[in-house]
Amino acid sequence: MTIDERLATTEFPLPAIREVNMAKHATGISLGLGELKTFPVDNKIIEAMNASLLNGGTSYTQNAGLPELRRVVAAQQEKQDGYSYTEENVVVTVGVQNAVYTTVKTLSLLGAKRVLVPQVNFGIYKKIPAEFGLEVCTYPLTTDFGVDINGLSAMLKPDDIIIINSPGNPTGRVFSAEEQQQLADLLREKLTEGYVISDEIYGRLVYEGAPFRSFSNYFERTIVVDGISKSGAVAGLRVGWVIARTARLAKAITSNNATIISTPPTANQFAAIPVVEGETQSTIDNYNIILKRNRDLVTRVLDRLYIPYVLPTGSFYIFPDLKDFVGENTKEFCLSLAKKENGVVVIPGVAFGAPNHIRISLASAEIEEGMRRFEKAMCS
Ligand SMILES: Cc1ncc(COP(=O)(O)O)c(C=O)c1O
Repeated sequence: MTIDERLATTEFPLPAIREVNMAKHATGISLGLGELKTFPVDNKIIEAMNASLLNGGTSYTQNAGLPELRRVVAAQQEKQDGYSYTEENVVVTVGVQNAVYTTVKTLSLLGAKRVLVPQVNFGIYKKIPAEFGLEVCTYPLTTDFGVDINGLSAMLKPDDIIIINSPGNPTGRVFSAEEQQQLADLLREKLTEGYVISDEIYGRLVYEGAPFRSFSNYFERTIVVDGISKSGAVAGLRVGWVIARTARLAKAITSNNATIISTPPTANQFAAIPVVEGETQSTIDNYNIILKRNRDLVTRVLDRLYIPYVLPTGSFYIFPDLKDFVGENTKEFCLSLAKKENGVVVIPGVAFGAPNHIRISLASAEIEEGMRRFEKAMCS
């Protein structure tokens, strides 16, 4: 078969999230957003980016990214886990997706064989390792979306790569300190050669309970991926990073990312500095106030409809179970709700490996009207 013949016959699907968002009727409201699109961006981010344009922001940076940004990321991580970091431990990437990609690529080149991802997961966790020919397995979760420690223990091999995500997408679940400790105890005993990739992109978006603490505080063999897409409400600036415990691993990741992106966009890296340094914290606090209020609004509607859910306390999603209402797969329901005049977009759980759920984003300015429409649809 020629390239052109293969091109003509191969499917290159876009993520299910995009499919449903694209089906939205002109009069529809989106509760499908994976970003804080309508939330105000802190001026310090914009000022830092603008100022950089007259001060090096239009040049290339090092392959590992802007040293100033890497130093503040290192300093913040040191506060999280007490380990000593320098800029040599940090690799700046084009968003967290690129951070996950290049980390998995590097571990694959170093001989990793298998990646374990949560049973309910952000879709790229499965797709990226599959692109490198790695075996991908899901590990079980408890009914409230915690890690099922016994289930994970039963399947764990010493050289596995395990992806964790707290605060979670699509669940909104934040692991407690006790849960993190329990998981770390298991991993210290059994994951002697592999690594954890801890996706902490929602770490600052916790609106109830104790603040989030990096998993690397609990387990040494943790590679942290994080970025400003969510906490800065600037997903389009595409800045993320990887934090590795050893400079050697960070160097390997840098080398493997250089062939993909060369360097991350410079002005955008300057924009990330005030977020990492905590200068935008009062803006983030306001996001969290709004997210909690929106969460409470959504749960009031779900309660009225007797729809079961796990109460989220971080990120900006809720992931109710609609099995008893629309059946085992919510995709058709979501598509028809999106296409309807005066409809609403919610994301089918199949995009996250849980087909009988839907993901509702708490980040819409139109959440009240969106939930009114959702309730009406559920009652009709
Ligand atoms: C859990 C999680 N990780 C990574 C990403 C990708 O982040 P970025 O937009 O910075 O690439 C997302 C985006 O929705 C996410 O929800």
